[in-house]
Amino acid sequence: MKGTILVNPYDSHPVQTRKVARMTEEFSALGVEVETTANDGFVAYVEDGRVRCRLNSDFVLYFDKERIAASLIERAGIRVFNSAAAIEICDDKMLTHTVLANNGIPMPTTVAGPLCYNQDAKLDSRYIEHAIEILGLPIVVKECYGSFGEQVYLCDTAQKLGAKLEEIKMKRYLLQHFEKQSSGRDMRVIVIGGKFVCGMLRTSDGDFRSNAALGGRCERADVPADIVALCEKTARIIGLDYCGVDILLSDTPKVCEVNSNAMFEMMERATGLNVAQAYAKHIVSIVQQLK
Ligand SMILES: Nc1ncnc2c1ncn2[C@@H]1O[C@H](COP(=O)(O)OP(=O)(O)O)[C@@H](O)[C@H]1O
Ligand SMILES: [Mg+2]
Repeated sequence: MKGTILVNPYDSHPVQTRKVARMTEEFSALGVEVETTANDGFVAYVEDGRVRCRLNSDFVLYFDKERIAASLIERAGIRVFNSAAAIEICDDKMLTHTVLANNGIPMPTTVAGPLCYNQDAKLDSRYIEHAIEILGLPIVVKECYGSFGEQVYLCDTAQKLGAKLEEIKMKRYLLQHFEKQSSGRDMRVIVIGGKFVCGMLRTSDGDFRSNAALGGRCERADVPADIVALCEKTARIIGLDYCGVDILLSDTPKVCEVNSNAMFEMMERATGLNVAQAYAKHIVSIVQQLK
């Protein structure tokens, strides 16, 4: 069995490099050879009306968020982890909430921001009043494409909300009810092959966002059965082989977002568990079934 790990050509962050090294190590321990390649557009493309895929692999471990190459590789008949469809659903936070809706998955009340095509256009002033009526204040604003908490904002007045929406109006964004009980803390849960693997509590003193990248502390958590069930169900609905689900810790736990490409270094450190091995074993068992 041979595999390819596909990485973003611009991302040489040490955490990403170490993630690739950990997976390579665990595949190697299972007797599986993997090589790492940059997702530069030449891996798979359209030529003479057909997909031309230059990979000679049984599977691709896809560590990029760009979903087009994942689709092209799948069309060439190679199994991609996670699938292109699942990556697409997770990449856009509003699409994630949309797909999860009507499935009995608790989530904060969430409104899609209107798309703006003209930098000079202005939103009707009643829009802000309406948003506050539905969501209350403060309101969480999130760009649909973002990570590490960097594109997540908290607006505590109508004026600040208006200014933020004006600033990001040319991007896709959502407005969300602020889950006050969960301010500065949430739970990150890893699910592999539809099964709970481990979870950690993330807490932050100075910020409502508990992302580790923003200084949130991570500690192993005894994840309650209702959160385990919620995360497994979430992963199954989206069709994820591997994910990190962020859970807001309100009276009723709520799905905040789903990361198809979740880092696992902090999780391995906090829990002492071998996440990379669990993912490598899952991939090998699925690919063996396909052979
Ligand atoms: N509706 C919300 N209420 C309270 N806190 C939130 C809410 N949404 C997000 N957060 C906090 O902000 C963090 C980052 O938001 P998230 O949607 O996970 O974006 P990112 O992809 O940047 O991690 C979450 O881990 C959580 O701590
Ligand atoms: Mg998150």
